[in-house]
Amino acid sequence: MLSLTNKHILLGITGGIAAYKSAELTRLLVKAGAEVHVAMTPSATEFITPLTLQALSGNRVHLDLLDAEAEAGMGHIELARWADLIVIAPATADFMARMTHGQADDLLTAVILASTAQIAIAPAMNQAMWADGITQSNLEALQLRRIHVWGPASGEQACGDVGPGRMIEPQEIADRCAGMFETTRLTGKKVLITGGPTREAIDPVRFISNHSSGKMAFALATEAAAAGAQVSLVSGPVHLPTPDRVGRTDVESAEQMLEAVMERVADTDIFIGVAAVADYRPATIEAQKIKKNADSMTLALVKNPDIISRVAALTDGPMVVGFAAETEHLEANGTEKLKRKGLDLLFANKATETFNSDEVTVTALSGHSQQTLGPGSKLNIARLMLDLIAEHLEQKTMPSDT
Ligand code: C5P
Repeated sequence: MLSLTNKHILLGITGGIAAYKSAELTRLLVKAGAEVHVAMTPSATEFITPLTLQALSGNRVHLDLLDAEAEAGMGHIELARWADLIVIAPATADFMARMTHGQADDLLTAVILASTAQIAIAPAMNQAMWADGITQSNLEALQLRRIHVWGPASGEQACGDVGPGRMIEPQEIADRCAGMFETTRLTGKKVLITGGPTREAIDPVRFISNHSSGKMAFALATEAAAAGAQVSLVSGPVHLPTPDRVGRTDVESAEQMLEAVMERVADTDIFIGVAAVADYRPATIEAQKIKKNADSMTLALVKNPDIISRVAALTDGPMVVGFAAETEHLEANGTEKLKRKGLDLLFANKATETFNSDEVTVTALSGHSQQTLGPGSKLNIARLMLDLIAEHLEQKTMPSDT
């Protein structure tokens, strides 16, 4: 089975007999490395207890839209933003109908409406209910809305009927969950990403740096690798594990980061500059620890190289994607930065929401378009960003018909 390391999966359970299999599904998802939250409709709790799911997921089960205490913890909007993938297993005929019509009369339907995450359902119901014209037209409507429908399988049913309507097996659902994070969109492409802060030494024990956590760069590296790209990540000092299938080079200063980037950029299709590079560094690094004898001191600083601009200025260079953490005038400042640095695409967000946070909203700016992504988890937004990047690359490399 593929890995689900660090993926946020919201498992929705609705009221059918197959709900007993959702316990095994929860166990498999957790075993594959996912963080799992479970939301149950009231009728699902008639088939399996929330306590079972709580014990298996390690998280409190979400049951009620109008529960003030639960909303004070992780409310329905937070849950919608947290999820990278929402899986409803089992999904009853009634739930499919409510979902089709965009109802939000319980926690699970409300979360679905509020989420930007991918959504999959594993239908389970009596074969006649499945075959009914209304269920089939609901199914079509859901598929048109890009809801993934997994199953149902055919066979003997709990009611004694034989036919299509059985929920597919938990192992198959877990495998498909992992498959949702794998695409072929960037197969064969080489992606170079900078991430984290840089550290500019003052003396052997002190430095200038910033609060960048590296989470956005690592999320992009994870998702680019899952989309089939060969990923090289040049990272400043961060406390994050290297994502699977990603080549990582650790650096400290902006100058080291520039050198590592220039060594690797020749063969790159896409360069994504996420690093919060320190704008200035001390003009000299003292060889010995500076003594604190004086009442005040002045540090002379010199400007650091702008790594992304250097990459954008290369002849036959890669497609270049930048970031801008702004405190005000997001679009105007972002557009100015896009042009000044010669970028193909820029993702702008509020500086106050960026550092060390797990959730983001970004505005994607290119020379000719603008689009908002999120709010959502950094992993989820990273996937949407890579979709846009891949689209942009396809347009850029498409032969023009003029
Ligand atoms: O100018 P500003 O720091 O706001 O620009 C942010 C973008 O430029 C990010 O993509 C960042 O990674 C990149 N950058 C860089 N080298 C610098 C400063 C910023 O690559 N010295």
